[in-house]
Amino acid sequence: MYQPPGPPQEPPPKLYPLLGEENIRKLLRYHYELLSHSEIKDLFPTGEELNKSAEKNADFFIQILGGPPYFSQKYGPPMMRARHLKFSINYKKREIWLQCFFKAIQKLKQEIEFPEKEEKKFKEFLIRFSEWMINEK
Ligand code: HEM
Repeated sequence: MYQPPGPPQEPPPKLYPLLGEENIRKLLRYHYELLSHSEIKDLFPTGEELNKSAEKNADFFIQILGGPPYFSQKYGPPMMRARHLKFSINYKKREIWLQCFFKAIQKLKQEIEFPEKEEKKFKEFLIRFSEWMINEK
């Protein structure tokens, strides 16, 4: 199995105080909506299950960005790389995942104040962290 360099050493930026829970949920709903129409849509569930996935992902992001530890409370230790091993994820799929996330950020930025510097740090985190999910060349 392919092993990317890592794991990422830099901690995620503490964006929770800036964005708040509802905006982080919104961001992940946009992300999952975009994923569900992307070239990697077949990896993801549909309908109500897709909504659940978006909320589960939001729980994770709220936690790592400095908010309440919803993900660990509901689902146990994050172990994100391990949780992704049952899906085959290569660099191409990761690129599509990232582009959907960046578009979701664009969409949120039309609605709220999201300082350029914070956006840059967040994207850098996503680039690093998503490489760690890759398990296939
Ligand atoms: C590299 C590209 C990535 C792909 C293709 C990918 C794909 C997937 C898929 C197919 C699932 C299962 C369905 C679902 O629950 O949505 C999933 C779950 C999840 N992903 Fe990703 N993912 C990627 C990167 C990431 C990254 C970088 C993060 C966080 C920073 C993340 C966070 C999560 C979480 C929290 C779950 C729920 C895990 C669970 O089921 O317990 N993913 N991902």
